[in-house]
Amino acid sequence: MSVYSDLAIDLAIIGGSGFYQLKPDTPDEKSEHTNYIDISTPFGKEAIRISQDLLNETSVFFLPRHGVQHNVPPHKINYRANLWALKEAGVKKIIAVNAVGAINSQMAPGCLVIPDQLIDYTWGREHSFFDGLNSLHDHIDFTYPYDSQLRELLISEAKELNISVFNQACFGCTQGPRLETAAEIQKLKRDGCDIVGMTGMPEAALSRELGIPYACISLVVNPAAGLSAEDITIEKIKKVLGEGLKDVRKLLAACVLKL
Ligand code: HPA
Repeated sequence: MSVYSDLAIDLAIIGGSGFYQLKPDTPDEKSEHTNYIDISTPFGKEAIRISQDLLNETSVFFLPRHGVQHNVPPHKINYRANLWALKEAGVKKIIAVNAVGAINSQMAPGCLVIPDQLIDYTWGREHSFFDGLNSLHDHIDFTYPYDSQLRELLISEAKELNISVFNQACFGCTQGPRLETAAEIQKLKRDGCDIVGMTGMPEAALSRELGIPYACISLVVNPAAGLSAEDITIEKIKKVLGEGLKDVRKLLAACVLKL
């Protein structure tokens, strides 16, 4: 049993680009961080800092995967340490938030997507806890990478809140940190990907290896490379993030009450 089990906090939220703390720190809505926990892991010298926050009067853990200053790019994130720390903290469920580009033309910037499938195009990332093959159990079943109950909850609560949501999509996870070429996006489209992001993997698989149900809210922030006449700029992405994350926060707040 972990030393943090007494806290009995079941849900962890992993924040992506633009989402560095649970509550927006505006003058009239102060951050409600109640506690920080630094957890050492076997996967690096640096402890993983997790905040314990109140969301709708419910305690949850929050971990910004890029760091609070967004100084860790997608291919340098210590995914194993992050997931290990959450397991150590005793979490029973993870909802991850990712900013993504849309390949499916129906998915406009600002909408939310709850993917049900993924294709991993990343390389060279530490992607498994099972480095020395110990047993046949190391081959986890990953047919359906996202937890169906968590997905259903996210979809039904989004509908309840009148938030535009797509309930099926294939997430193509690319290496980054650069965006894709137009030809790469066409290849992903032929492969059946609807959205593209850089941080979906190995996070989802590591969570499965640890036996923690995991689902993802993808916020579309741009049409993927070559699919719009306009350039993809960070300024435009930031604008969509600012608005879209309001919906993400609303959705998370509704979901914690049902978990
Ligand atoms: N490609 C990959 N990752 C992304 C994108 C994109 O277009 N937009 C936001 N994250």
